[in-house]
Amino acid sequence: MDNDTIDQIIDRHEGRAGSLIHVLMEIQSKNHWIPREALAKVSQKLGVPFTRVMQIATFYKTFSLTPQGHHEVHVCTGTSCHIRGSQRVLDKIQSLLGIRAGETDSNSKFSLAKGNCLGCCTLGPEIVVDGRHYARMTPEKAEEVLKKYN
Ligand code: FES
Repeated sequence: MDNDTIDQIIDRHEGRAGSLIHVLMEIQSKNHWIPREALAKVSQKLGVPFTRVMQIATFYKTFSLTPQGHHEVHVCTGTSCHIRGSQRVLDKIQSLLGIRAGETDSNSKFSLAKGNCLGCCTLGPEIVVDGRHYARMTPEKAEEVLKKYN
């Protein structure tokens, strides 16, 4: 993310210190992660101590301080989805993407995560790609879903 883009985001919020979270959310949304240089710039332009910016950026799970893929894939491994075969779905996705849960591929195209219940157990196994839910997943269906994002 270039400095001009960061400046534009901060300027849109009129450089108010109280808009720190909104500025970080916008950088996260546009860039998929927040580089340290961006945090320093936000600190300087909003007049918020860098330690405070880091405190906020590390407290909320929404913010990632490490590079993330352009597409975020989340596989539910909650109890209900697990019983319905989410591990096979996860194995297939890991194999297709060549990464394990918690990793980002070398092209920064996909990040893969696994985690607890997404709140729609009757539709499991469930995966979410870029915020869109896909229900009743099988390894074969997961492959078809990922093709849409290639
Ligand atoms: S256990 Fe997967 S959605 Fe609830």
